[in-house]
Amino acid sequence: MNDSGNRFFAALTAAVGAAFAAVAWWATGEIAVVAAVAVAAAAIVYAIEANPHIKPPELPAAEPAIRADAVSIESLADPALLIDRASAITAANAAARKLVGERAVGEGLAVLLRHPAALDAVRLAREHDTPIEREIAGLGRGEGLYRLRVTGIGNDRLLLLFSDISAARLAERMRVDFVANASHELRTPLATIMGFIETLQGPASEDGPARKRFLEIMAREAGRMTRLIDDLLSLSRIELDKYVRPTTPVGLQPLLADVGKTLAMRLDADQRKLTIDADDELPRVIGDRDQILQVLHNLVSNALKYGRTGTPITLRAERIDRPQPIIRVSVIDQGDGIALEHLPRLTERFYRVDNSRSRSLGGTGLGLAIVKHIVERHRGELGIDSQEGIGTTVSFTLPQAENGAMSHN
Ligand SMILES: Nc1ncnc2c1ncn2[C@@H]1O[C@H](COP(=O)(O)OP(=O)(O)OP(=O)(O)O)[C@@H](O)[C@H]1O
Ligand SMILES: [Mg+2]
Repeated sequence: MNDSGNRFFAALTAAVGAAFAAVAWWATGEIAVVAAVAVAAAAIVYAIEANPHIKPPELPAAEPAIRADAVSIESLADPALLIDRASAITAANAAARKLVGERAVGEGLAVLLRHPAALDAVRLAREHDTPIEREIAGLGRGEGLYRLRVTGIGNDRLLLLFSDISAARLAERMRVDFVANASHELRTPLATIMGFIETLQGPASEDGPARKRFLEIMAREAGRMTRLIDDLLSLSRIELDKYVRPTTPVGLQPLLADVGKTLAMRLDADQRKLTIDADDELPRVIGDRDQILQVLHNLVSNALKYGRTGTPITLRAERIDRPQPIIRVSVIDQGDGIALEHLPRLTERFYRVDNSRSRSLGGTGLGLAIVKHIVERHRGELGIDSQEGIGTTVSFTLPQAENGAMSHN
């Protein structure tokens, strides 16, 4: 029997089987239905298998492969595109569609990306039949920096995989900036000291009063260098412990009083009064005693340095039970305040609103960076509120100790 005869026979058998099934369904019951369906199915299978020319309708040659690829790249978190030999996009995963647009598939790569470095990588990957990598900025809708890897996957098709390296580059940049800033901060007092040493060795060698004055300045600058190194070491120690959460219950009130005592002389010298506003029944917190003291010291020092002479400083600790049991500690000063645009950057290392003022007050610009890291280690939150001409409130939270015991210990 020829092809069409075969198909006709199969179709006829299937139709008879199906008709029988319908009648059986209506007349008798399930077993007859199953039998009739089985006859119809068997006829179709037989007709297909008996003649290899009878096949389900064929898809265009490339399509099954593309579908399989589309499924596999869909599971990648990074943007991925597949292009054919004419550089038309045949598949784009969700991340890629987010980056270059939902209607990427079917577009030409050159039209879609319009990025010379990416197109160059594709050209080279084809020419040399080897994976090519390029760094690409300003791609599609994204503002990030990507490393593009173009790899051949057979049949003249290429896989374009984009890994977002913006965060890594930012971290690298911050590290470089940090080293540059730290060196600069150290070099400034060092240059001052060297200058005075030269002066004392030369022109001022016999000048008693000048020598006394110069030595005072040198001591001050050396002190600044020591403080800077102490702060840097302190910062790196805190960072090392970043993921080790403190576990000991600490009473806050003795620490608040301690800060007042440590800074008493400086407070007096500036006619400032430190008011401690804390409930006697304040529960203990979970924390590292020395680090909490360091936070309090840095914040009250800032209030002293940047508040107005003669104005009070308030150190407040309040209990908050909802949504979580925490203690919020606030340091409130009355001073010039901080302009809004500076607030988000205050906790960056070496960031100062007024460089020369901070330096002349002996500041290293690391105080709030240290505070931020300590508060983060305690899983607390740091907040800075400021109004220009009125004053600044810096607050942080600490978790209450579970037993809610009193703070006197
Ligand atoms: N209470 C405040 N009022 C006004 N400005 C403040 C206050 N606290 C901080 N600032 C501003 O934020 C900047 C950063 O503060 P930070 O404590 O990190 O550094 P610093 O005080 O300059 O130096 P350090 O604390 O390391 O000695 C300060 O230089 C200052 O400009
Ligand atoms: Mg400070």
